[in-house]
Amino acid sequence: MKVSVKVPASSANIGPGFDCLGLALPIYNTITIEETVVPGTGIEINMMSEEESIDDMVFDNIPRDENNIVYKAVQMLYNSIGQEPSELKINIQAQIPIARGLGSSSSIVVGGLLAANKLLGNPADETALLAIATEVEGHPDNVAPAILGGFVLATQEDDGTISYSKLDWPEDWDITVCIPDFELSTDIARSILPKEVPMQDAIFNAKHLAMLMQAVNTRNPKLMKTALKDRLHQPYREKLVPGMKEIMEAFKHEDGVLGCVLSGAGPSLLIISQKYDIDKIKSTVKEIWEKQNIKAEVKTLKIEEQGATVY
Ligand code: HSE
Repeated sequence: MKVSVKVPASSANIGPGFDCLGLALPIYNTITIEETVVPGTGIEINMMSEEESIDDMVFDNIPRDENNIVYKAVQMLYNSIGQEPSELKINIQAQIPIARGLGSSSSIVVGGLLAANKLLGNPADETALLAIATEVEGHPDNVAPAILGGFVLATQEDDGTISYSKLDWPEDWDITVCIPDFELSTDIARSILPKEVPMQDAIFNAKHLAMLMQAVNTRNPKLMKTALKDRLHQPYREKLVPGMKEIMEAFKHEDGVLGCVLSGAGPSLLIISQKYDIDKIKSTVKEIWEKQNIKAEVKTLKIEEQGATVY
């Protein structure tokens, strides 16, 4: 038996929603798991990509053994029903750029889990799959939109319980993804964050996240422009992403640009706008990055409402 899963990319955090907000984007990885009949062949992991944006070196350095996250995720699912995976061939067809803050690893975890779940006769429901994916990834903000599609708020309680809710993203709010030509590992981007933050910064994020939810629910662009700010991760990560501060500054006072935020752990940026000249966004971003010798792919995408699809 062979099962494939097409999983969208995702952008996490969306300003103040550190580790709990994310949205799905129409760039995809496809994960295929095939049960092989020859005993003792173990688990084989293959990754392939025709994308120019996927750097060969980074790609070659991804482990193809039990240290691969897809292996870990699949193993956790099998173990949850008292089984051990064996004789599986896992193929990953990658289109999502790696280490750019676009949920590449989450898509692979989700794809592996959903494919393995189907092979096992669907023992895990959506919440259980989300819980395993969150355990592998450490936070639910990429895996939730990868599984569910759309714009999602997802949290994990101390006892492991996952709660999530999908929200309607306003149709006319454009999302422009700016992907620079360098990688930034999530581990490095997390290691730079402090263990504790000032109370004022915690309050700042709590009130801006509340504002963001209300802005989306009431489709209020003015409120969204006030809401799209963060003090928990972006100020610390700024030094890892040359040009980030300048790009954010450039759009700060532009009516129609609701905000510019770091996509996940970066280095990609997400610009949210309404009825604003997209070409102006693209040229401004490219110009600022070019001054730093950084090439970038800048594209305006519709939110992907369809989550991971099993076929
Ligand atoms: N919320 C995570 C972070 C997303 O910003 O570190 C990246 O996996």
